[in-house]
Amino acid sequence: MFRIREYAPADLSALYALDQVCFVPEIAYSLEELQYFIEQRDSLTLVAQAEQVAGFSIVERPHTRSRYFAHLITMDVAPAWRKQGVGSALMRAMEIRLLEERISRIRLEVAVDNLPAQRFYRSFGYEERGRVEAYYPGNVDALVMEKELSAATKPAKGGAEASA
Ligand SMILES: CC(C)(COP(=O)(O)OP(=O)(O)OC[C@H]1O[C@@H](n2cnc3c(N)ncnc32)[C@H](O)[C@@H]1OP(=O)(O)O)[C@@H](O)C(=O)NCCC(=O)NCCS
Repeated sequence: MFRIREYAPADLSALYALDQVCFVPEIAYSLEELQYFIEQRDSLTLVAQAEQVAGFSIVERPHTRSRYFAHLITMDVAPAWRKQGVGSALMRAMEIRLLEERISRIRLEVAVDNLPAQRFYRSFGYEERGRVEAYYPGNVDALVMEKELSAATKPAKGGAEASA
């Protein structure tokens, strides 16, 4: 069982450790990078809390005059918690928050060789919009994926308690 809640500064070291497990060293964030993204004025970081941290997501909402889009920085689920709806619960809670803020579009980058993540995002209705060459270290390209948000998010599969 896990619940989705907002980030608190005491989470930083656990989120850093989880990011190191989720990504190869060339792609994982340094502690300073992670802290920078989390502490940006327009960031929203959600945490899936089980006995320990099961996952987290960071999204930024760039502050433009029209302020209509969000950018997903990362989505990390601990290996022991994968395929149990944690990523989906984070995504759903994040989308609900963005919709409450009247943000209607979200964009992300995902490595071309990260097929599980691409399937995850597609299952939420994200569509490929382009490709950025050598976006990741090691000359790995990124797919740019986008989604128009609507009130109809994917239904919960169970396991998650109330959203943040
Ligand atoms: C991608 C990731 C966030 C998915 O989180 P998760 O909690 O395992 O996802 P869920 O259990 O909510 O899965 C939802 C759907 O995504 C898809 N999916 C998730 N993991 C998948 C996998 N390994 N292979 C294929 N499809 C997968 C499935 O459609 C799944 O629905 P189903 O369980 O009904 O088949 C997780 O695997 C992860 O943290 N990976 C490492 C970090 C990463 O790559 N993050 C994204 C980088 S941009």
